[in-house]
Order: sequence, then C-alpha cells, then structure tokens
Amino acid sequence: MSQKIKILTKNAYHYFYFQTFTSANVCSGFDCGLSEYNNYLFHDALRSSNDHIAFTWLLTERATDKVAAYMSLIMDAIKLSFSEKELHNLNYPFKTIPALKIAKLAVDRGFSQKYKGIGTFLIDSAERVAWACNNNYCAARFLTVDADIEHDEGVIAFYRKNGFIPNAELYNKNRKTISMRKDIYQ
Ligand SMILES: CC(C)(COP(=O)(O)OP(=O)(O)OC[C@H]1O[C@@H](n2cnc3c(N)ncnc32)[C@H](O)[C@@H]1OP(=O)(O)O)[C@@H](O)C(=O)NCCC(=O)NCCS
Repeated sequence: MSQKIKILTKNAYHYFYFQTFTSANVCSGFDCGLSEYNNYLFHDALRSSNDHIAFTWLLTERATDKVAAYMSLIMDAIKLSFSEKELHNLNYPFKTIPALKIAKLAVDRGFSQKYKGIGTFLIDSAERVAWACNNNYCAARFLTVDADIEHDEGVIAFYRKNGFIPNAELYNKNRKTISMRKDIYQ
C-alpha cells in the first residue's frame, strides 16, 4: 500500500529544491488539474517575472527534477476595517496595511498523491520570504490571497487550515474569489 509522505519544513529540503523559476527549468509535465494554472506556468510565469509583474518560485523534486508545485508572489496592500485592525492590534489612523500576496499557487496532482503538505510548505515559504523582507528590505504584515473558489470551494478550507481568514471589506458571496489574509506575526 502506498503511503503519502508528509512534507514538513525540516524534511522538505531533503526531497525538494525550492528555487526561483528560470528558463532553465522544464515544467512541461506539470499538471495541477486546472488548465488555467498549468497554462500560467507554461506561458506567463517567466514573462511576468521578467516584467516584474509576479515572481515565481518552483518546488522541484530532487530525485526526478520534476516540478511538483509553483507559487507566484507579488507585493500587496489591504484595507482593513476598524475592528479588523483591532483584531491585529494595529492601532493606526490609516486603513491600508502592507502585505505580500500569493498571486498563484498550484500543486501537481501526481505529487499531491505522493506527498502530503506541499501546498502548506509553499505557504510557509511565502511567510519566510515576507519575514526576510521585513528583516532586511521593506514591510509586509500580512500574507494575502484571492482564494479561487470558482473551481473548488475547498481552497477556503485549505487556506483556513494555514491560518488565513477572510477580509471583511472585500467579502462578497457572489465573487469567484475570496480575499483572505494571514497575520504573519500573530
Ligand atoms: C489547493 C492546493 C494548492 C492544496 O495543495 P496540497 O498540497 O494538496 O495541500 P496540503 O497537503 O498542504 O493540505 C493542507 C490541508 O488542507 C486540506 N486541503 C488541501 N486542499 C484542499 C481542498 N481542495 N479542499 C479541502 N481541503 C483541502 C488538506 O486536506 C490538509 O488538511 P489536513 O492538514 O487536515 O490533512 C492544491 O490542491 C492545488 O494546487 N489545487 C489546484 C490549484 C488551486 O486551486 N490553487 C489555489 C488557488 S487560490
């Protein structure tokens, strides 16, 4: 019987490279089950990196050199209501708070069957990128994401399990995405 290997931060680097996407990477076999996300990786991710529109990271399996997952990050800012600011102890007279946004995140289906926790590892990695920015370059209090519920409402549960909550000001039941945030210091 096959058993899924749980990817933890401490063992992830044993199985994978976490690297920036360059033209040297071969990603043609990647399939997360959604053509929109596959095509973004095949056709748009490199161009977006070159144009400084989105910065893409790959998780590549060491044993096979295959792309298991990718994530694109961009800078962001979110508007919080008074009560949302109180929730995060952010007593400032302005609404807009800086953030790092997960613009795209997808895991190859074959790899999700082989390993558990790849998506979570990428979120943890985004958090580490934000911490590095905060320690050295510029501020980002939150991780943000527009959770894509058009194809799978379950992504809300995935992000909730990873510490995200919906943004009240942008919450709208008819949307195809739900704007969510994670306070990386709470
Ligand atoms: C959503 C996605 C990134 C999750 O990646 P993953 O590697 O399967 O997630 P993890 O293994 O880290 O899952 C962490 C937890 O979330 C749960 N979870 C993951 N995907 C879920 C889903 N679609 N529905 C409900 N729960 C989900 C897992 O069961 C796990 O729960 P547990 O800790 O209680 O066992 C992946 O399924 C994917 O690439 N989907 C297609 C593209 C997509 O929808 N991207 C998100 C766009 S916003």
